[in-house]
Amino acid sequence: MNTVKTIRELRAAVALARAEGKQIGFVPTMGNLHAGHIALVEKAAQRADFVVASIFVNPLQFGPGEDLGSYPRTLAADQEKLLDAGCHLLFHPEVDEMYPGGMAGQTRVSVQGVSEGLCGASRPGHFDGVATVVTKLFNLVQPDLAVFGQKDFQQLAVIRTLVHDLNMPVQIFGEPTIRADDGLALSSRNGYLNAEQRAAAPTLYRSLQQVATALGGGERDFAKLVEAARQQQLTAGLRPDYLEIREANSLRPATASDRQLVILTAAFLGSTRLIDNLTLDLDATA
Ligand code: PAF
Repeated sequence: MNTVKTIRELRAAVALARAEGKQIGFVPTMGNLHAGHIALVEKAAQRADFVVASIFVNPLQFGPGEDLGSYPRTLAADQEKLLDAGCHLLFHPEVDEMYPGGMAGQTRVSVQGVSEGLCGASRPGHFDGVATVVTKLFNLVQPDLAVFGQKDFQQLAVIRTLVHDLNMPVQIFGEPTIRADDGLALSSRNGYLNAEQRAAAPTLYRSLQQVATALGGGERDFAKLVEAARQQQLTAGLRPDYLEIREANSLRPATASDRQLVILTAAFLGSTRLIDNLTLDLDATA
């Protein structure tokens, strides 16, 4: 696996692979890779001949007071994992390479609708930062397909909308969330948790399961379910940011007649903000 830091090298390596008739698969990441990321790279390797990953902690998607400075940077370990997973090329640019004119005057991509509410409400500007960097990365790599995790459910919806609305010729795949044995969704931010917080963290998923079980059993009083789940989080020492039931395809607030649902939540443990979601197909559970 080759690691390149410049756009020039990236374009040259991808052009070579394309000249050999290879299909290009792409997995953008911010590094500190865990089994969830590796599953994405393995999927890309199953679907494409040449797999490109990127590691770039994108300042444009962090708000003031968020963890941009402390976000874990673990390049050597990440390179080993990527190699084992079947990655051919790693793009690991510096901030200046991606934003040579600085961030202030940077052209931004703003996806309407699905980026509003949920994490979009708690983290103003976050999805503009994501949509902008993903647009840049897609323009640089020009992949045939790209693979993202469903753990970032709203992000995946933003990226699908971006690709559709801007007619980008890239196929988007969403892969299921990988969880620890106790149900906690794998996340680079789990590393911030102390032992007590780590013990409490699986409640995030349990609160989603509690809502899903009630919905599967026919309960349609969404406000009651949401309140019970918030209480469950509070009792375990989590500070809920949001917990919402949405229609899974459009991300609009769910109605009692919707059959494809997603329950999404974000909560704080100390200063660490974790997110999770659970999709529910009521036609499949009926
Ligand atoms: O999910 C992430 O790691 C990031 O938001 C992404 C998609 C790599 C953009 O910086």
